[in-house]
Amino acid sequence: MFLKNAWYVAGWDTEIHADTLLARRLLGEDLVLFRGENGLFVALEDRCCHRLAPLSKGQREGNNVRCMYHGLVFDGSGRCVEVPGQDRIPERLCVRSYPVVERDHLIWVWMGRPELATPDTIHDTHWHDCPGWQAERGGYIHYESNVQLIADNLLDFSHLGFVHNRSIGTRKQGNVRPDVDFADESVAVRFTTLDSPPPPFVRELSTLPESVDRFNYYVWHIRGNYFVQDSVVAPVGGGYDSTDPTTVKLHTFIALTPRDEHTTHYFWSTAHNEFCSSAQELTSKLTVQVARAFQEDREIIEAQQRSINAAPDAPMGAIAADGTLLRVRRMLDVMLGREAQESPASAVQPGVPA
Ligand code: FES
Ligand SMILES: [Fe+2]
Repeated sequence: MFLKNAWYVAGWDTEIHADTLLARRLLGEDLVLFRGENGLFVALEDRCCHRLAPLSKGQREGNNVRCMYHGLVFDGSGRCVEVPGQDRIPERLCVRSYPVVERDHLIWVWMGRPELATPDTIHDTHWHDCPGWQAERGGYIHYESNVQLIADNLLDFSHLGFVHNRSIGTRKQGNVRPDVDFADESVAVRFTTLDSPPPPFVRELSTLPESVDRFNYYVWHIRGNYFVQDSVVAPVGGGYDSTDPTTVKLHTFIALTPRDEHTTHYFWSTAHNEFCSSAQELTSKLTVQVARAFQEDREIIEAQQRSINAAPDAPMGAIAADGTLLRVRRMLDVMLGREAQESPASAVQPGVPA
């Protein structure tokens, strides 16, 4: 149901302090995440191979974790390195370990075959720490919904004028058709609205005039489920590359990591250019506004999920605006089929260290 051979965002680095053993369910699997004394992150199956107690109830010791039921110790590769009162440690005493990389304050975990995990394919989010950009990191929403409904929402901007008519959207956007370019495993969507009122948050925070040009360009990456958006709100005629100092530029990152079939982790950040003098105050104001918009999405999507749960066989009628999301679903199906052929279920066995 989920692509396994992908880097998924598992959390923010700020969630894990020296002694933290973070329990996190990803793609239906329970993991424990921690940072070793050497500074490197470790991701292990959160189930001791002795009597199945969660390792997240244990304690970190150096670069290892000790199960606090009967005291077995596991290293970062998942191998058992200590059994209290026993000298010989059988090879089979191990838990699965997952490739894990910290990059730009995000913790990425590879959920599939470890030999395919290449860190250089992790998406660049350097704007989380970049001169000229003010970033607000650490955003998180727990969703009581299947990941696909949230992906559908991100792929369809026609909801902006309705779900977000009091925050980031305007009614006119509901009528604008985007330019869409499909690649092998991603889709780029370009949404342009010329000579129209700015969204409420820009009107409140910037000095832009009452009529502006808006450019929302984003890319949805199917492998790993993440969304990277560049938004520009410029004086009329300024264009996407507007250098007018009042131009508002935003960078939004959203990673949807399935928790399981029914729930989803939604990690997000925003960054903006320094278009006004009180940038720090602006960042928090902007974050409040964006967070409100994301809550608006959550409310409608979770309500949609409840409605689907109540009538799972009810048909959905397609409209033109659904074209992109339906094609992306077909692309995902092809990728899932390919992965199933290339990675027989036996390729990744719980209990085998990576
Ligand atoms: S259950 Fe972990 S040591 Fe016994
Ligand atoms: Fe939305």
